[in-house]
Amino acid sequence: MQIKKAMSTSINSNTIASLVFLSAGLLSANANAEEFFTIKDGELQRPTGYREWVYVGTPVTPNDMNNGKAAFPEHHNVYIDPKSWAHWKETGEFRDGTIIMKELVSVGSKAAVSGNGYFQGEFIGLEATIKSKKHNPNEPGNWSYYSFSTPDHDALTEVAKPFPAASCNACHQSAAADDFVFTQYYPVLRAGKGTGEEAAGGFTSTLK
Ligand code: HEC
Repeated sequence: MQIKKAMSTSINSNTIASLVFLSAGLLSANANAEEFFTIKDGELQRPTGYREWVYVGTPVTPNDMNNGKAAFPEHHNVYIDPKSWAHWKETGEFRDGTIIMKELVSVGSKAAVSGNGYFQGEFIGLEATIKSKKHNPNEPGNWSYYSFSTPDHDALTEVAKPFPAASCNACHQSAAADDFVFTQYYPVLRAGKGTGEEAAGGFTSTLK
């Protein structure tokens, strides 16, 4: 009886100790989860899970309207990490640590029962942009740009090095509506800019 009691006491204190340990671990994991990407030795590891972030829009620059070779072929499905979306809704600004993913999708069919058009086909590439003073102290706007697409658009690389500013930042700096990001083509970001909860959709009867 005595031994049993001693055992259960020790199990209890062990359990408490491991709970304390676990919650300390969770707290530090949460602090790291502020950033939705990992950069090691200057290379961005291919981010995962971005299709479950916040979807902001789909520009399309089809090859057949660009002499068969659009710079960024076909549809671009664009996602922002949820922490940065929350910050954008609150402040109307992109926080330090923002990551935006752009997944390229081919034009599949050009006809549907609804009419002729450009319908999404297969995934053909993946790009990213990150705003970070820590990682990009010398890049214009602290934004860096990456591509994980292989040259034949058939597969993805594990890691990507940032492009030189002249290849990507320059055009984004001169033509994008909001801090290097082309919000003029993303209705979700336009509706969300500094509008708080309303931005989540369905809260007003106006179309925004
Ligand atoms: C000639 C101008 C131009 C250049 C150069 C350019 N982009 Fe963009 N980029 C755009 C436009 C316009 C959009 C939005 C519309 C679209 O996707 O077509 C965009 C959107 C993006 C987005 C989605 C987030 C955002 O900022 O809107 C990413 C990611 C991106 N580009 C990556 C790159 C990378 C990587 C490079 C360099 C290899 C690059 N871009 C070079 C014009 C450019």
